[in-house]
Amino acid sequence: MLALIAVLVHISVVFAATADQWRGRSIYQVLTDRFALTNGTTTKLCDTSQRVYCGGAWQGLINKLDYIQGMGFSAVWISPVTHQTPISNASASGESFHGYWQDDLYSLNPAFGSPDDLRALSAALHKRNMFLMVDIVVNHFSWPGDPSTINYTAYRPFNQAEHFHPFCQIQDSDYSNNQTRVEQCWLGNDINQLPDVNTESDFVQSTYKSWIKSLIANYSIDGLRIDTVRHIRHTFWSSFVSAAGVYAVGEIFDGDPLYTCPYQTALGASTAGVLNYPAYFSITQAFSSTNGSISALANQFNTIKSTCPDTNLLGSFLENHDNPRFPTLTQDSALTQNAIAFALLQDGIPIVYQGQEQHYSGGADPANREALWLSGYNTSSALYTFIRQINTLRNTAVARDKGYTTYKAWPIHTDNSTIALRKGSDGKAMISVFSNLGVKGQPYTLNISQTGYYPGSVVVEILSCHKYTVSQNGTLAVDMGAGALGVFYPLIQLSGSGICGAGKRPEEGWGRQWS
Ligand SMILES: *[C@@H]1O[C@H](CO)[C@@H](O)[C@H](O)[C@H]1NC(C)=O
Ligand SMILES: *[C@@H]1O[C@H](CO)[C@@H](O)[C@H](O)[C@H]1NC(C)=O
Ligand SMILES: *[C@@H]1O[C@H](CO)[C@@H](O)[C@H](O)[C@H]1NC(C)=O
Ligand SMILES: *[C@@H]1O[C@H](CO)[C@@H](O)[C@H](O)[C@H]1NC(C)=O
Ligand SMILES: *[C@@H]1O[C@H](CO)[C@@H](O)[C@H](O)[C@H]1NC(C)=O
Ligand SMILES: *[C@@H]1O[C@H](CO)[C@@H](O)[C@H](O)[C@H]1NC(C)=O
Ligand SMILES: *[C@@H]1O[C@H](CO)[C@@H](O)[C@H](O)[C@H]1NC(C)=O
Ligand SMILES: *[C@@H]1O[C@H](CO)[C@@H](O)[C@H](O)[C@H]1NC(C)=O
Ligand SMILES: *[C@@H]1O[C@H](CO)[C@@H](O)[C@H](O)[C@H]1NC(C)=O
Ligand SMILES: *[C@@H]1O[C@H](CO)[C@@H](O)[C@H](O)[C@H]1NC(C)=O
Repeated sequence: MLALIAVLVHISVVFAATADQWRGRSIYQVLTDRFALTNGTTTKLCDTSQRVYCGGAWQGLINKLDYIQGMGFSAVWISPVTHQTPISNASASGESFHGYWQDDLYSLNPAFGSPDDLRALSAALHKRNMFLMVDIVVNHFSWPGDPSTINYTAYRPFNQAEHFHPFCQIQDSDYSNNQTRVEQCWLGNDINQLPDVNTESDFVQSTYKSWIKSLIANYSIDGLRIDTVRHIRHTFWSSFVSAAGVYAVGEIFDGDPLYTCPYQTALGASTAGVLNYPAYFSITQAFSSTNGSISALANQFNTIKSTCPDTNLLGSFLENHDNPRFPTLTQDSALTQNAIAFALLQDGIPIVYQGQEQHYSGGADPANREALWLSGYNTSSALYTFIRQINTLRNTAVARDKGYTTYKAWPIHTDNSTIALRKGSDGKAMISVFSNLGVKGQPYTLNISQTGYYPGSVVVEILSCHKYTVSQNGTLAVDMGAGALGVFYPLIQLSGSGICGAGKRPEEGWGRQWS
């Protein structure tokens, strides 16, 4: 009986999570082939320039979940799981280690493991109350060669030419001139074509819906990351995402909120999000040098806030497997910390790409796909600790302030080098202050008003553990040291969180501010 109850509780807690269940989550992005070997070896070389499988697998990932959860993450996004096209000439195209070249939706990629291994991964995550997000590709299949040579009967389940759009190659100019061509022509090149699925076909649409339902059920998947969403018409998406029945975040690789945000509406304004590329470009620019524009970041932030239907369901990131890593732009550790923290603390569900915590610095694809095992999974690295601190505070805010994940962050202060965001319910908001002065910046005092904090209350800067008393008019006077970055939270809200010792050794005056 107890066992049965345990099973029921387990299922109700973690299966097929909705957007609201995802709001407070924090996602670690794993490139399955490059995260962990099943035998735990950390010395196997992996030359990213070769674009071939390096051996990472789901079992290896299962063995390293402590490393991920230890940084405060509550969800893992893995590479696409579907079966991939055999490679006719790996030296020309590379192998499909990334998982974006599928040929069979109903089989798994054996390089990553067996169906039982994938089920074991989702079970291992659920046991830790973590979610599994699977990357999926709906737009295309793959073919290593000329379009005229495609053997459609080898595909599953779309095994006829009519299940695909007729061949035409997407040109760079199409992105600005012809959205129809972006949606119906093919991605790819002479070496590897990506046959474009005919998502106008009724058969294709209904088949996709039944496929995604059974994929999610068979492997107890909690959420989806959807590849190349801009390559399918808006009206396709809402019924697909409803059939999936889980939160989905779509990739639209475009920095214009007016182009990207409407896809959140198309996917489902209250059930889905998009990767926040509009913020990504501005964060990157603002913090990549001491000359970056904070005012442009603030303007973009406000535009996104008024354009996307729900910024708290966006996927917020600084790095991923498609863009050069942030440290290729600057080696300034203060700028890097500010950029990472901004992505973790602005609106949305934060996503950290494997290797950020080890200060990996690979450039454009394929250099940004370094094997993580070569870091030795060092849990003492500066950024591992930093990300843990920020995640722990965000997790605390999510648990203690019901308004945290619906409040749209408010930039309460901006100047040429500083932006301060207030996020959360009145009196218990988190205030994060970012600057792009870098490690050589001169210390100064910044008076921040409109904090919403109670006069006389005590707030803690959680990276330094310094305490501040809010002035009688609600202003917070913060010491911005060199490379300034400050994350403030009311002391009383930290009780028992373990942050800055809270709860381990209650300090004098604990809880006396108000209650
Ligand atoms: C571990 O696995 C990798 C790849 O699967 C293999 O190349 C390596 O030789 C193995 N190492 C040991 C010590 O078994
Ligand atoms: C594979 O591709 C490489 C690079 O394009 C080319 O040099 C080589 O001849 C090809 N090999 C075969 C067997 O086609
Ligand atoms: C096409 O694929 C089918 C199914 O895998 C296979 O039986 C057939 O031999 C292939 N045809 C060619 C020309 O390779
Ligand atoms: C866009 O491309 C489609 C398909 O090639 C073509 O029919 C249409 O005329 C093009 N539209 C514009 C505005 O060029
Ligand atoms: C899920 O499992 C069922 C039953 O074994 C099977 O028929 C179906 O093809 C599977 N779906 C996927 C997407 O693997
Ligand atoms: C910043 O701007 C100054 C003055 O315009 C220029 O000399 C310097 O090279 C710039 N630094 C960077 C990192 O762009
Ligand atoms: C882990 O990182 C810390 C901090 O950078 C360093 O001192 C330590 O030597 C590293 N440990 C290993 C095993 O590389
Ligand atoms: C802020 O930057 C602008 C544009 O570079 C400049 O004109 C202005 O003087 C700066 N303001 C301050 C207070 O430094
Ligand atoms: C900031 O506040 C402090 C008192 O908290 C005050 O002494 C100082 O003058 C203020 N600075 C500015 C620039 O307003
Ligand atoms: C609030 O109080 C601080 C410190 O007493 C002072 O520096 C600041 O000017 C005051 N701000 C306002 C808007 O009254």
